[in-house]
Amino acid sequence: MKTELPLAPDTDTGSPSRRVFIQVVTAAVGCGYAGMIGYPVYKYLASPIEKAEAAGAVSEVTLPKADELPKGSATIFKFGNKPAMLIHLPNGEWTALSAVCTHLACTVQYEPEKERIYCACHGGTYDPASGKNVSGPPPRPLDRFQVKVQPGSVTVTRS
Ligand code: FES
Repeated sequence: MKTELPLAPDTDTGSPSRRVFIQVVTAAVGCGYAGMIGYPVYKYLASPIEKAEAAGAVSEVTLPKADELPKGSATIFKFGNKPAMLIHLPNGEWTALSAVCTHLACTVQYEPEKERIYCACHGGTYDPASGKNVSGPPPRPLDRFQVKVQPGSVTVTRS
């Protein structure tokens, strides 16, 4: 046996209570969305760490166990909010350079077999010992940092 409920006539469509209810729900949903978007933006902009990093206030980074980096290899690390590169050169010397290409800011890579730092974006190359731009479009050398190797870690300092 099938029972159908009679449809109520839609006479309340414009009633103030329904209108108010819809306005309240719409406002609540809108506030929820605004909070979901606005809170992370607020936290990012208000973060003192992010502000300090954005201002380049990070002047020193200690890399645990980086002293174990084999000769002829490199590691990329975050120096403030930018990538940097610690290189243990084949001759045993250490160097730390910005890993941001001076042409259009691509991240560069150390290529020990070719004894160069290479930017794959436009083929720019740099000398790994000095950071000097050697060929391609980069207009200036990579920023160079001071390196202090101690047992158990390597400390890189912005000069
Ligand atoms: S961004 Fe590195 S060569 Fe263009």
